[in-house]
Amino acid sequence: MQSLAIIGSQWGDEGKGKITDLLGQKCDLVVRYQGGNNAGHTIIVGERKIVLHLIPSGILHDHCVSVVGHGVVFDPRAFKEELEHVQKAGVDVTPDRLKISENCSVITYYNKLLDGQREAKGPVKIGTTGKGIGPAYEDKTSRKGIKLKDLLNKEILAQKLKANMMEKEILFKHLYQVDFPPIEEEVEKLYELGKMLEPFLCDTFSLLDHAIQENKKVLYEGAQGVLLDIDYGSYPYVTSSSTGAGGIYTGAGLPGKYVDEVLGITKAYTTRVGEGPFPTELFDELGERIQRIGHEFGATTGRKRRCGWLDLPLLKYTVKASNITSIALTKLDVLAGLENLKVCTAYKYKGKVIDCAYPGIELSEVEPVLEDIKPFHDDFKTDEFSPELKSYIDTIEKGIGIKVGILAHGPERSEIKFVKNYFN
Ligand code: GDP
Ligand code: IMO
Ligand code: MG
Repeated sequence: MQSLAIIGSQWGDEGKGKITDLLGQKCDLVVRYQGGNNAGHTIIVGERKIVLHLIPSGILHDHCVSVVGHGVVFDPRAFKEELEHVQKAGVDVTPDRLKISENCSVITYYNKLLDGQREAKGPVKIGTTGKGIGPAYEDKTSRKGIKLKDLLNKEILAQKLKANMMEKEILFKHLYQVDFPPIEEEVEKLYELGKMLEPFLCDTFSLLDHAIQENKKVLYEGAQGVLLDIDYGSYPYVTSSSTGAGGIYTGAGLPGKYVDEVLGITKAYTTRVGEGPFPTELFDELGERIQRIGHEFGATTGRKRRCGWLDLPLLKYTVKASNITSIALTKLDVLAGLENLKVCTAYKYKGKVIDCAYPGIELSEVEPVLEDIKPFHDDFKTDEFSPELKSYIDTIEKGIGIKVGILAHGPERSEIKFVKNYFN
């Protein structure tokens, strides 16, 4: 295998960072292609905990080149902070190991402000991360976006930012009635940040094109999850990018044939941060226990993650929507030892029983059909699994029609079992 996509198969936070870090060991390049610093990908190595938001999770491996493709919306202020955090943790991030597309759209201070104002005062609360992601993608698709390369020329930057602000000024002054810094101040700040960024900027399209021609091994690291996809997700409670495999082709700049397989990272239960329907959500003590044992707090905002049972109709849908070819089942250790486990195998919806959450199904109106899972007590010290755990895995594989290739049973690098070999 030359290339593999890592995709979140649920509502994010499935453990993509951990799996990308592990498989990144065997790769030449790790590529982020969508989202921004709304992502929070955690890597634990011994005593070190590193949370990455913009920098790809291959950065811990010296031989690996980390690439930020043009589909990412990039906040230079957030990047500066992250760079400092990562370097403090002892990771050397040099321009030959981190390549950022000069065509990434910039998240400006105004995008962040707009995100916050809408969440606080707008008619629909999405529960965003408040990082300015939606407004930055809006600027991009409305062709008013600032690109990273624009930060290198003060005149062009001032011109573009002025045009970009025409409508926002009116919103800030008259609709939201909030103070905002003058354009000149933002130009100065972005220009300074541009100087810091310049050594990392390049044309990542040709970089990837050449790497692929030279048979390099490439890992694509998705952020968020398919259920947060702007087209495939539970709209409007989604993020603003293509979080599924489709995002690779637009956000990294590669024709489809170059991705060999798609690995769907899947938590052994389900979590969600922010608003929106969640059919298997638990509102009882058991849900709180899973939240506690799994340390389910957002890696970006620190919010408590909502917890519920694994939802096979949703998973079956995301497998189809992103052409997922195998899954990595994570956080099995969190369920180990718990009694009264359940899994959702189907929905009752409008008088019918359905086993795939196709679009058009109103998730807030479905009644989940829950089946009992036999409790398992595995300590994962050997490669043998208990018959109860095997039976849970079997139910999942039958429910979604593809195989589990990886089982993760703890946050550490060593807490993993490979059923399938991804890169030789
Ligand atoms: P990501 O956004 O998909 O990369 O996931 P996050 O980093 O936001 O959240 C996953 C959390 O679970 C992190 O704190 C990881 O360290 C942790 N984690 C990953 N895999 C496992 C696992 O198998 N078991 C346990 N207990 N924790 C895990
Ligand atoms: P990783 O990559 C979980 C959610 C937010 C909110 C919605 C829209 O760590 O899995 P946004 O700020 O993107 O406009 O918020 O999407 N969200 C995530 N939830 N993990 C993430 O990333 C997320 N990124 C965004 O909570 O519901
Ligand atoms: Mg996360």
